[in-house]
Amino acid sequence: MNATHTPSSTSGSTQMAEPPPARLWDRNEHAPDGRLRVLHVATEVYPLVKTGGLGDILAALPVAQQAQGVDARLLLPGFPAILDGLDDVGLVADLGSLMGAARVRVLWGRIRGSGIPAYVVDAPWYYRREGNPYLGPDNRDWPDNARRFALLGKVAAHLAWGDVDPIWKADVLHAHDWHAGLAPVYLSQNPVRRVRSVFSVHNLAYQGLFSPDDWATLALEPWMLRPMYGLEYHGWGSFMKGGLAFSDWLSTVSPRYAYEITTPEGGAGMQGVLLERRERLSGILNGIDETVWDPQTDPLISANYGIHDLGRKVENKTRMQQELGLTVDPNRMLAVMISRLTNQKGADLVLQALPKMRELGIQLALLGSGDAHLQDAFRKAAEEAPDQVAVCIGYDERLAHRLIGAGDLILVPSRFEPCGLTQMYGLRYGTLPLVCKVGGLADTVTEYLDGQPSNGFVFQGGQISGLIDALERAAALWWHDRSGWEWRMRTAMEARHGWGPSAAEYLSLYQRLLGEWQ
Ligand code: ADP
Ligand code: GLC
Repeated sequence: MNATHTPSSTSGSTQMAEPPPARLWDRNEHAPDGRLRVLHVATEVYPLVKTGGLGDILAALPVAQQAQGVDARLLLPGFPAILDGLDDVGLVADLGSLMGAARVRVLWGRIRGSGIPAYVVDAPWYYRREGNPYLGPDNRDWPDNARRFALLGKVAAHLAWGDVDPIWKADVLHAHDWHAGLAPVYLSQNPVRRVRSVFSVHNLAYQGLFSPDDWATLALEPWMLRPMYGLEYHGWGSFMKGGLAFSDWLSTVSPRYAYEITTPEGGAGMQGVLLERRERLSGILNGIDETVWDPQTDPLISANYGIHDLGRKVENKTRMQQELGLTVDPNRMLAVMISRLTNQKGADLVLQALPKMRELGIQLALLGSGDAHLQDAFRKAAEEAPDQVAVCIGYDERLAHRLIGAGDLILVPSRFEPCGLTQMYGLRYGTLPLVCKVGGLADTVTEYLDGQPSNGFVFQGGQISGLIDALERAAALWWHDRSGWEWRMRTAMEARHGWGPSAAEYLSLYQRLLGEWQ
């Protein structure tokens, strides 16, 4: 199996007291009036488990959907940090042994802080493992990942049908990324039970491949493994392909990425099935949680500011410059980058651009973790020019906020980017994004060279020359036209990127699907 992403924030004890039976009232409270019922099946939710943007989405979308009258609930695996982060925990069902796990129970609770209602698959053998949700201590996929995440899909289908919780079933099962890819597959085993499925692709590069040896252990029927319309993928099986082939509808996280994944360049080998199903594929842009990411109220940054007191932003910069050992100078441009350090994110391009950035008088503060060779190269670059380049290797939510509050420019030179969140955080904080024109970056950042309102800097082609040109344009504006720079900041900060419109799009998609039955 290929897993996603970098080390996560999972932590916590694996001990848990026996939960009492879940109170009917608790679960009923969320669905007293026949609202549309949606079960989101996923592996991450901020702040409990997050290895990337997926966790942010699962924390914000259900809340926005509830505000629009949808009964949205999560189904999550019982990782230690999830069990530790639930309030009002109760037992819904004891499913006995399932998919090779000795004792599987379904718990109910609310995500601490947000109160999002969640069902949790408590299967200690599979999920009560510390650290990254997908990788063992050797940094490789857990060898039983196929069964671990097949179990999630299996429970999802039964919960959606109404077999698990006597007072709840789903109208729509909404599965996210390969980890949940088998949920629509199992669901398709019983179409008479009328649950619609939507599968959202957050990143096609991670496909959840499993070997033929695993096939027999996943309770799949032979026809499901067929090549074109099934799980088979070049002699392997793929959870991602299961989601793509078996769901009633496919979505991905930006309109541009929805197009890119149907092409040979962007399809990561799945373009055949995606082209075949393109009539049932939508691109719905992610939102951001505008309560967590708001420069006017963010408790993690040194000085709060808004569009009407932009001058205060610089206090965040000088404070960061001091703490990171950079030359303290409010007049210097500070570029920040908060990212997984992988080929996708174009961090190697930033390394190549460093001499040019120094020449242009641009400082860099990077926070990230990922590929060892990139981590080492960034550390080395910081050692060579500590007053110009600061590098923090690791995962640090607080520092991420502080850097975005402090930066003038945020670098997101990704080779592909399904949506991307940090550029939107940058827009909200008046920290102008400099991006490669791909996926969600192309859908959110604009740079018009003819005087129309721009909110950042954009280059094409994913090459170093394009990045350098864009840095030169940014430096020219910074040094020679500060009011032009501030104009762009205002344009960026005025736009809204909350979840409302996207949640409404999902709702009309669900309604359309349910309408197909009428
Ligand atoms: P992806 O999911 O591909 O990594 P996104 O831009 O969608 O990219 O989401 C990344 C999320 O993870 C953002 O919320 C970003 O702030 C956060 N993030 C990435 N790296 C770090 C890090 N080293 N420390 C803290 N937050 C990080
Ligand atoms: C993935 C993508 C990223 C997207 C995130 C949330 O991790 O790489 O572009 O923003 O999922 O959808």
